[in-house]
Amino acid sequence: MLTINEHYLKLQASYLFSNIAKRVATFQEQNPERDIIKLGIGDVTRALPQACIEAFHSAIDEMANDSSFRGYGPEQGYDFLRTAIAANDFQTRGADISADEIFVSDGAKCDTGNIQELFSLDSKIAIPDPVYPVYLDSNVMAGRTGDFQDGRYQGVVYLDSTKENNYVPVLPSEKVDLIYLCFPNNPTGSTITKAQLKTWVDFAKESKALILFDAAYEAFIQDDSLPHSIYEIDGAREVAIEFRSFSKNAGFTGTRCAYTVVPKECMAYDSKGKEHSVHPLWNRRHCTKFNGVSYPVQKAAEAVYSESGKAQTDELVSYYLENATIVREAINDLGFDSVGGENSPYIWIQGNRDSWDFFDMLLNQAGVVCTPGAGFGKCGQGYIRISAFNSRDNVVEAMGKIKDALK
Ligand code: MLT
Repeated sequence: MLTINEHYLKLQASYLFSNIAKRVATFQEQNPERDIIKLGIGDVTRALPQACIEAFHSAIDEMANDSSFRGYGPEQGYDFLRTAIAANDFQTRGADISADEIFVSDGAKCDTGNIQELFSLDSKIAIPDPVYPVYLDSNVMAGRTGDFQDGRYQGVVYLDSTKENNYVPVLPSEKVDLIYLCFPNNPTGSTITKAQLKTWVDFAKESKALILFDAAYEAFIQDDSLPHSIYEIDGAREVAIEFRSFSKNAGFTGTRCAYTVVPKECMAYDSKGKEHSVHPLWNRRHCTKFNGVSYPVQKAAEAVYSESGKAQTDELVSYYLENATIVREAINDLGFDSVGGENSPYIWIQGNRDSWDFFDMLLNQAGVVCTPGAGFGKCGQGYIRISAFNSRDNVVEAMGKIKDALK
């Protein structure tokens, strides 16, 4: 008899964004005449930068000829892309990351979900609350948590991110092994200073722990004093893995390209206390379970670092940030407290009522989809998240409808 992985039974209902998509589809079925504006999942709406499109086309032309055709590529990514990433995203910021520490993949979601496979099931995990659900769910699936009780999985160290701590969690008071951090934060849009991040790096060093740093939204940072990468912090090479994505800066949500940085100094320990570099372990996993991102997609991603690509991605980011300003101003005019939207495409709004009630009310009365904060964790209860990823017209219209609904 085939038995299942019973850890899956501990998971809550369906994945947050699938659950929302189902609710919206049901509403649309019941109200076919209603227009719906989606400011829920952080999915971009504008076309790929022209530089990426041109590189994409020309790579496809190469695939059309036997002489330039490419089959399997290196699992870790082509050198041309890994070198461009290391130079542009890290070395120019003084972060000492080399091309062979970059692993190109098809998404930060997959990488942040898969990385936990490298570590023992008794590793103690510290996870922010509210949080991007993938970090938590992937650990539940693996069996690294107990049951779900009172809105939380047993055995997890939750790092509360609340108004009181400005949505930057304080260090845990107990020993942990794996620490998930995401800045600019999804879902709150909050940011972390270099000094704050340094306390986490020092804590990880002292505890022989590892930080899993999700920087998928770094392109939205406008404040020059804020770190774009954890490797801008001294000592981080020894204790941090960083996740990046081309989804939000260059519109690759449907095209799929991301990368993970695993510095060679990052260590984990076997049961006898002997240290092992994490880099060869991730390389081994990647080669076994992944066959690389397609050549045309990697060429399109490389074009993000060309002069025109940089200008075009900057323009996309500015466009979404201007949307975020429109959302923030409308929400503040309505008298709600909010955070985010300045260095992030997300605005986290204190709704002063149940998150799902607020979600339903905005959907029913304004025809606008947001994300209920409670879906991101217990500390998200009472909040909603609005995403700035949509056209200017839709964002302006949505905020007008929200204002009418809430007046
Ligand atoms: C979100 O809306 O939180 C994210 O965009 C979803 C994702 O990137 O997987």
